[in-house]
Amino acid sequence: MSGLFDGLGLTSPVVAAPMAGGPTTPSLVAAAGRAGVLGFLAAGYRTPEDLAGQIAAVRRVGKGAFGVNVFAPNPVPVDPAEFRAYAQALRGDGEVYGLDLAAAHIVENDDHWHAKVALLVSDPVPVVSFTFGLPPRGDLEALRRTGSILLQTVTSVEEARAADEAGVDGLVVQAAAAGAHSGTFTPAEPPRDVPLLELLQEIGNAVNLPLVGAGGVATADDVVAVLGAGAEAAMAGTALLRTDESGASAVHKAALVEMSTVDTVVTRAFSGRPARALRNAFVDRFDGRAPLGYPAVHHLTTPLRRAAAASGDTDRVNLWAGKRFRHARAGAARAALARLAAKA
Ligand SMILES: Cc1cc2nc3c(=O)[nH]c(=O)nc-3n(C[C@H](O)[C@H](O)[C@H](O)COP(=O)(O)O)c2cc1C
Repeated sequence: MSGLFDGLGLTSPVVAAPMAGGPTTPSLVAAAGRAGVLGFLAAGYRTPEDLAGQIAAVRRVGKGAFGVNVFAPNPVPVDPAEFRAYAQALRGDGEVYGLDLAAAHIVENDDHWHAKVALLVSDPVPVVSFTFGLPPRGDLEALRRTGSILLQTVTSVEEARAADEAGVDGLVVQAAAAGAHSGTFTPAEPPRDVPLLELLQEIGNAVNLPLVGAGGVATADDVVAVLGAGAEAAMAGTALLRTDESGASAVHKAALVEMSTVDTVVTRAFSGRPARALRNAFVDRFDGRAPLGYPAVHHLTTPLRRAAAASGDTDRVNLWAGKRFRHARAGAARAALARLAAKA
């Protein structure tokens, strides 16, 4: 492969997507590295200490380059009255697990942004990527001086232009088919549902930056098509969720098979930010009722989602999944990555 990732020693045009909340593990990233694939650790929701431990683990057992993905601060403060009303609406679901969600306080924070940047500046990794928004200019500059390759997730031409002006090295072009949170900079307006190949073309015409295509990459043919549309690499997330190295919960892994007749939907019911999930009873009850407000709504529902996952309660877990989740297979990550790269 040539271009954006030159010098990293990669032998595959596939990229293993960062998947925060459990699915990404150091062993998944290390398995990617051993397969010549660029894998990403997911810094989201982790403490800086925890992230440092994961980086150390990948360096210890892994081989080759890897990246770290960070949630850039793009807070959408929740309206307090809407938060209270939603907390009240969740009361019954909380009570199932002895949780008093109606009494929850609003928690707004930046997911330890400054400490994570400080960590990546003091102990650089080969690639750093950002989602949810552009990092503040000074932080981007500090990270650039480390020599790390800097990638920005974008979901539209406007975001791609802004990232280009900010001076990143490449873009992860994320189509709406992608699983979990959209990287959109404007969560109040969920991204248009444009097919990945079209979005790659639109963005490729607008900016002169190397592109990585993401969102619905599930088969070897998808990888070929993404490369054919001008991307340097194709990123897959959902396709790796069921692998042995994925730390997705047992209930999540099982749902990807057992709910194969169900569709995915983009909802803010779980976190206050648009995210694609399997449509379960929680989505049916609360999609449309949840306020906009990240990370406050995320923190509100976290104890419920944790308790539900521990109990195998599919109805109350955020079952993040991309549109093409039916292609996800169990087994070694190495095999899943080899299948994806087979025709490239
Ligand atoms: C469970 C899950 C968690 C994710 N977490 C993150 C994350 O922490 N950071 C990020 O930039 N993207 C995250 N994503 C999005 C992926 O990076 C990628 O854009 C997406 O998986 C591509 O679409 P696909 O799921 O159809 O392969 C996540 C995706 C999934 C399925």
